[in-house]
Amino acid sequence: MSRSQFPRVATLKTAAAFRAHLERSSIPLAFDDQLAAPSASPFARSIDVDGVRVGNRFCILPMEGWDGTSEGEPSDLTRRRWRNFGISGAKLIWGGEAVAVRHDGRANPNQLVMATRTQPAIASMREELVAAHRERFGANADGDLFVGLQLTHSGRYARPDIYDRPAPLAASTHPVLDRRFPNGVRVIEDDELARLEEIFTAAARLAHDAGFAFVDIKACHGYLGHELLGARSRSGRYGGSLENRTRFMRQVIERIRADVPGLQVVVRLSVFDMVPYRKRADGVGEPEPESRSVPGFSVLASDDGLESALEESRGVLRMLEGLGVRWICATAGSPYYNPHIQRPAMFPPLDGYEPPEDPLRGVARQIEATALLKRDFPGLTFVGSAYSYLQEWLPHVGQHNLREGLCDLVGLGRIVLSYPDLPADVLTGAPLRRNAFCRTFSDCTTGPRMGLVSGCFPLDPFYAARPEAVKIRDVRTETRAASSDQ
Ligand SMILES: Cc1cc2nc3c(=O)[nH]c(=O)nc-3n(C[C@H](O)[C@H](O)[C@H](O)COP(=O)(O)O)c2cc1C
Ligand code: SF4
Repeated sequence: MSRSQFPRVATLKTAAAFRAHLERSSIPLAFDDQLAAPSASPFARSIDVDGVRVGNRFCILPMEGWDGTSEGEPSDLTRRRWRNFGISGAKLIWGGEAVAVRHDGRANPNQLVMATRTQPAIASMREELVAAHRERFGANADGDLFVGLQLTHSGRYARPDIYDRPAPLAASTHPVLDRRFPNGVRVIEDDELARLEEIFTAAARLAHDAGFAFVDIKACHGYLGHELLGARSRSGRYGGSLENRTRFMRQVIERIRADVPGLQVVVRLSVFDMVPYRKRADGVGEPEPESRSVPGFSVLASDDGLESALEESRGVLRMLEGLGVRWICATAGSPYYNPHIQRPAMFPPLDGYEPPEDPLRGVARQIEATALLKRDFPGLTFVGSAYSYLQEWLPHVGQHNLREGLCDLVGLGRIVLSYPDLPADVLTGAPLRRNAFCRTFSDCTTGPRMGLVSGCFPLDPFYAARPEAVKIRDVRTETRAASSDQ
């Protein structure tokens, strides 16, 4: 299969054409042909969870811009992105972006860090988001706006000092992924993890004092919190059994509950994973050959096995529910070793590969996994991810999923970089701007892979005018030319 075999979503212009393609390709994805009027839209319904009211069913997913200062404070670019989140119209801001709890946990030298010295700047960025929301939607519009901060340690994917110098601190060894780090991988020791639990708690307290209503204890995308969940081969109290593998997450949450009352704790979880992929000679992605029995958390071998692959995630969700966590953001895989699973795209990022499947299948897989978990945990509130590839059909699929209770909120990632106020347009019934839809060119992922800031270089005029846009376009052209030579 190659990209050219998958029709571009923009060419599936009618509901009949979209449905015919899904049926022909056996992609299980349902959608509403018509969008409801704003007053009857499932997107417009508020949701109440344990005394928190969120004003509608749009959620902005966390997205880093690799654009903080070297000290870990936001820059003007970071602030602009957060203001855009504020004007989007979405009422749930899931964490804004991954913020490291400590310098060595940064995924890049420009990632934000939550520390005493950076807290005032991060607090004022949150205020700017809220102010932008009020300016656009009214003086009291923030009454049902729920804004949190995503806390992370990047673990295996830490690159705190130089963008192309990894400083991995893994949860366990990995026969395939370790080979991608020629200078070796250090496994974090138990005592360091115990210390890190305190650091997460301190960061959560700073987030609370900065005005954030919740913190997300990030457990996705191959970073430390996620890798620990799959650390079967690790010995000691944080490895082996699921009880041990969830110890870090559990203890962080318990500590925050005890030390920072009033702060909600939520979790973004890669609810399933797949084995690491690599680029085949013709540029298309394929599973690493010897990865059949590699470790991991809720690893999916084939789509028939989704129910059973989710079993470990169910174990984690039971534990989280028992701890009083009410909000879950479902995501999948990792942008580092299987990007087509995590953020389905037609065009690969610089370090990626041509899609090995119709990206719509990747979207459908995340929707189905979220629906299965929602069915099993009706008391948890689920945000779904990976809708951006749906482009014009995003509101139609989202409306169907909300109406059918397959998820509670629809999360928006890349589309918000290209079309920040899509939620506002859907909620008011305004005509949707076709030329603003993210076409999944992946430049927002390629930029950071080149040590540049992230942004929607092809479609956001602000980024299109920046010098990085030219560099990224040139790299994209060269990579595609090389792929088509194969
Ligand atoms: C540029 C970029 C940065 C991202 N940064 C984060 C992040 O900081 N934390 C996180 O949990 N996910 C991050 N993601 C993943 C998104 O939240 C989302 O899961 C993914 O893009 C799929 O959703 P979409 O199809 O709407 O883009 C990032 C994605 C992109 C494209
Ligand atoms: S660069 Fe823009 S169009 Fe490309 S994937 Fe990112 S948001 Fe979408």
